Amino acid sequence: MTTFWSLYITILTVGTLLALTWLIFATRKGQRPDTTDQTMGHTFDGIEEYDNPLPRWWFLLFVGTLIFSVGYLALYPGLGKWKGVLPGYEDGWTGVNQWKKEMARADEQYGPLYAKYAAMPVAEVAKDEQALKMGARLFASNCSVCHGSDAKGAYGFPNLTDHDWLWGGEADTIKTTILGGRQAAMPAWKDVLGEEGIRNVAGYIRSLSDLKNPEGIDLAAGQQIYATNCVACHGVEAKGNPLMGAPNLTDRVWLYGSSFAQVQQTLRHGRNGVMPAQNEILGNDKVHLLAAYVYSLSQKAEQQ
Ligand code: HEC
Ligand code: HEC
Repeated sequence: MTTFWSLYITILTVGTLLALTWLIFATRKGQRPDTTDQTMGHTFDGIEEYDNPLPRWWFLLFVGTLIFSVGYLALYPGLGKWKGVLPGYEDGWTGVNQWKKEMARADEQYGPLYAKYAAMPVAEVAKDEQALKMGARLFASNCSVCHGSDAKGAYGFPNLTDHDWLWGGEADTIKTTILGGRQAAMPAWKDVLGEEGIRNVAGYIRSLSDLKNPEGIDLAAGQQIYATNCVACHGVEAKGNPLMGAPNLTDRVWLYGSSFAQVQQTLRHGRNGVMPAQNEILGNDKVHLLAAYVYSLSQKAEQQ
């Protein structure tokens, strides 16, 4: 915090406290000491105003909060650069430095372990019980917000436990995905194909997964549109292309929903799923463990 903001906060806080103290005592002065049932003569919609002092307990409550705040501000950090009288808050409330110290200690303790695993191939690490436990913990704190605590994904976030991969399921490919992130680019087709074209190609795509379409869809026209516009990314057989994260459209796994309305929505506006890169955030060694963990999940799925 700069000196300016420190002063700003201090002056504002102390100034407010002083002003409130003045206010509570100033309004008490000149008040009659006892209660009265004589009104001030003001009536508002039949509600009359008396001229009675604030009840004593109420007044003392105000004074009490003022004393409390002074004590609080003296004991704890908060007033600009003031660290508080109590020990343990040298870093302020956030405790950033404390956290950094703990992280450094953890790195010292687990560093050699990470290094050992980082030197092994991902697929090998995926067979090590302890490594998988560490990977599971890393997954819970870094990945489950999007992929779910069971890694089964949700709408827009892929399931990592099935055998269906957007970007490829080899151990090293998974590591590449996590390290560098991925950015999918499915173009919007609204202006290119028009509503009729969208309907027909949506129907055609769904027919590849044996889904029942509404009446009046021209599947042959849809197929034609597919051959012209979609083959480049999704492939001639619509089995997808992991080089650009284009999904297999025949496997009954849908990232953005399979209903006729949802598929049309995907086609009209396009989709741009983003997997955030973890290299800067977690570093190579942790990503290595995560890749092993994710790989192990899909291996389990294969065995079932
Ligand atoms: C430039 C490459 C590219 C082209 C061309 C393209 N797609 Fe895609 N498509 C993608 C990518 C990449 C995704 C994945 C988007 C994501 O993960 O956010 C995708 C996703 C989809 C999905 C969503 C699948 C799901 O699981 O929910 C459908 C449906 C789809 N495309 C159909 C089509 C159709 C039909 C065409 C032609 C009209 C087409 N795509 C053309 C790249 C392309
Ligand atoms: C902010 C949300 C978010 C977070 C956090 C996140 N992911 Fe992802 N992840 C995504 C999205 C979205 C995709 C799909 C990208 C696409 O559409 O192509 C994805 C894709 C993936 C894929 C590729 C799946 C495939 O089918 O090829 C892997 C592997 C993956 N994530 C692992 C992880 C791991 C491990 C972590 C934790 C370090 C993580 N993700 C954290 C959103 C997230």
